[in-house]
Amino acid sequence: MDKPSPLGFGLGLRPVYYEDILERNPNVDWFEVLSENYMVPGGRPLAMLERIRADYPIVMHGVSMSIASTAPLDVEYLKALKELADRFQPEWISDHLCWTGVHGVNLHDLLPIPYTSEALDHIVERIRRVQDFLGRRIAIENVSSYVTFTESEMDEWTFIREMAVRADCWLLLDVNNVFVSSFNHSFDRASYIDAVPVDRVVQFHLAGHSEAETHKIDTHDQPICEEVWLLYEKACRRFGSISTMIERDGNFPPFDELLAELERARSIATAARHAIDEVAA
Ligand SMILES: [Fe+2]
Repeated sequence: MDKPSPLGFGLGLRPVYYEDILERNPNVDWFEVLSENYMVPGGRPLAMLERIRADYPIVMHGVSMSIASTAPLDVEYLKALKELADRFQPEWISDHLCWTGVHGVNLHDLLPIPYTSEALDHIVERIRRVQDFLGRRIAIENVSSYVTFTESEMDEWTFIREMAVRADCWLLLDVNNVFVSSFNHSFDRASYIDAVPVDRVVQFHLAGHSEAETHKIDTHDQPICEEVWLLYEKACRRFGSISTMIERDGNFPPFDELLAELERARSIATAARHAIDEVAA
């Protein structure tokens, strides 16, 4: 399969860091942009993206495709997404395994689904239609969840594997989301990582989360925790060189702190690659 080449180590492009990026030319290999923030007719975000895109590869990450919804696909949204992609030439486009609304209401949340064969058929068909429309494979990301459904017939990782193979799509593996959901639903996170097909994963997400009394919440406003770094190391050993980025969406630290986290990702991935090479030698 013609999996895209790894991009290295990236960050989410957030307005609070525009000046740091433009002035310092930091050691960041690529940026992930939130598609919806740039699906606008003009203004500062697009002007900034033009400048940053001139120096860095990008990928586009969306939150509104609502691929799992029973509402019809939003053709106007897909047209705007395609226009943005034509203009900025991302390496790939991703969105989430979730639904965000129904009956014309957008809840602005990444809502979970029951893992049933009926849902699988539905989502596979929709991913295929989106890919046909966009003329490219898309990457689908596992979300954090806080409820499960008694209707589910399979594990999340089985669902994701089947979905990727049948829809012929890429996967964006969010390591923090695996960790958060494994805690909230008491499943074995190592089994999850081991079940995801290597040939489908094009990107990792890393992020921090918050602790509630009985569960963890995917807030992207904290440093990456030690358990997630450990899980990332395991993922690097299984999947090899995969484009990795850090999502930070609140409680923004000085840019250097994010760069230090990115360096840690770089060194973990490099050590994992050396370990793989040694076993192979
Ligand atoms: Fe993510």
